[in-house]
Amino acid sequence: MPAFTVHSLSREEILSHRQALADILVNCVNGGASVSFMMPLSLSRAGEFWSAIAESVGRQERTVLVCKDETHQLAGTVQLVTDQPENQPHRADVAKLLVHEKARRQGIAMLLMDALEATARAQGKTVLVLDTATGSGAESFYQRAGWQKSGEIPRYALMPDGEMTGTTVFYKFL
Ligand SMILES: CC(C)(COP(=O)(O)OP(=O)(O)OC[C@H]1O[C@@H](n2cnc3c(N)ncnc32)[C@H](O)[C@@H]1OP(=O)(O)O)[C@@H](O)C(=O)NCCC(=O)NCCS
Repeated sequence: MPAFTVHSLSREEILSHRQALADILVNCVNGGASVSFMMPLSLSRAGEFWSAIAESVGRQERTVLVCKDETHQLAGTVQLVTDQPENQPHRADVAKLLVHEKARRQGIAMLLMDALEATARAQGKTVLVLDTATGSGAESFYQRAGWQKSGEIPRYALMPDGEMTGTTVFYKFL
């Protein structure tokens, strides 16, 4: 098993790793993953996305975790979104779990989600929510990771190639 490590990034660290983070996002979207963007996604647009995420981290609205491989290259990332309405202080959303294609099926997503849950617990969160494209590999991953399927919403979004997809909503009690 390679020596993967998980780290939380500050606003400044996200900006300094913006190119590598953009590369992972582009790789996932242009590989067909349904994560808000249409293909072809350019590196510059992906970089703008990460700049906005860095500012959000600076406002303490979310935590960005990354997984580095044994050569300290970024292989994956996930976000815990803690900026919630005042009647949901115990809840957080999970967003943008992304693992570069060349690093998949080595347990990186599982490591990231374990670290994300530990981060959420440390902030007093007891309910996590996410949604993912119905029928995707990510849906299988979340079931394997112990998430509860709440239901499916048909015709929710477009896949990067323009095909309509449903979404499956998951939750996890911590
Ligand atoms: C989904 C994703 C994050 C999984 O990352 P990963 O690092 O390859 O996942 P792991 O290696 O931790 O997988 C752990 C287990 O989850 C399941 N799993 C992971 N990917 C799967 C897939 N594509 N199909 C079916 N099951 C899968 C398997 O049971 C796997 O264990 P195994 O490899 O021993 O069979 C990755 O494929 C990805 O980045 N996809 C594109 C982006 C995306 O769709 N993100 C989700 C947004 S909500």
